[in-house]
Order: sequence, then structure tokens, then C-alpha cells
Amino acid sequence: MTAPVPISLDVNGERVDAHVPPRLNLADFLREHLHLTGTHVGCEHGVCGACTVRLNGEIVRACLMLAVQTDGAHVQTIEGLSDSGEIADLQAAFRDRNALQCGYCTPGMLMAAQDLLKQHSEPSRDRIRDHLSGNYCRCTGYQAIVDAVEATARLRKRAVA
Ligand code: FES
Ligand code: FES
Repeated sequence: MTAPVPISLDVNGERVDAHVPPRLNLADFLREHLHLTGTHVGCEHGVCGACTVRLNGEIVRACLMLAVQTDGAHVQTIEGLSDSGEIADLQAAFRDRNALQCGYCTPGMLMAAQDLLKQHSEPSRDRIRDHLSGNYCRCTGYQAIVDAVEATARLRKRAVA
């Protein structure tokens, strides 16, 4: 058996030091070692987007990264974005517009939607669909999700106007 590897990283603003098996992926590290279970695991093949997290400011698939690759990195999970209030308006829009049913896709969907809204203040519906196209939802049919993201963009634009 391969010896655990020491890593040190920032997760949601807190320093984490750990020893991890070299093959442990980031999603399992977050869920099983740090108990940050908001990062969901669906396909484990980089397809469904349920495991989306932020790594040094960019969204990545946590199932496709090894925990050892995050040594020295800043990781933000849905818990971090939620606790900081960064996506409070987006979460409210998802609730108001029934943009979630089982909720399994929702953390990854919120991470991806916020990533888009940080880059574009007024994305078209096509752009929203395009940006979320790597996040699968088996329940909603996507229409309500696009509505929620579009409504949040409008509200944010009004707030800065
Ligand atoms: S679990 Fe990572 S993309 Fe599906
Ligand atoms: S709400 Fe169930 S998978 Fe999206």
C-alpha cells in the first residue's frame, strides 16, 4: 500500500493539513475527510457536474482531481459560498422558481451558475444554457434553472445601477 501524502490547503477560508492516499480524489477528500457533503458525486467521470467546486477561483470537477493536486491551493465548496452569503440571491431564486426538485444537482449547478454570473452581468438564455451544459439535472427540465439564473442576473444588475 502506498504511503499517505501530506497536503496543506485552504478550504473555505480555513487551513487544512492532512495526509491522504495518493489516489484519493478531491470529491472524496472533501466529503469523507472534511465532511463537506454538499459536494455531490454522480458519475465520477467528469460528465455530470455534481461535484463542481472552485479551485483557485476556477470551477473544476472534484471527481477528476486528486486531493494531492490541491496542495497549496484555495478550494471553495458550496458550503463556503453559501455561508459567506455570496450566492444568497441565487439560492433564493432557485427556491422561488422551483429550480430544484431532488436537489442532487443543485450544489454543482449553483457553483457553475455563480461562475457565469461573475463573468457576465447580463448573460443571454443561450449563454446560461451553454455555461450550465456540463451540469446534468434529471428532474427539472432546466427551464426553471435558466429562469433563476436569468432573474438573479437582472436583480444584481439593478442593484449596481
Ligand atoms: S461526479 Fe464529477 S462530474 Fe459527475
Ligand atoms: S433537481 Fe434532481 S437532479 Fe436536478
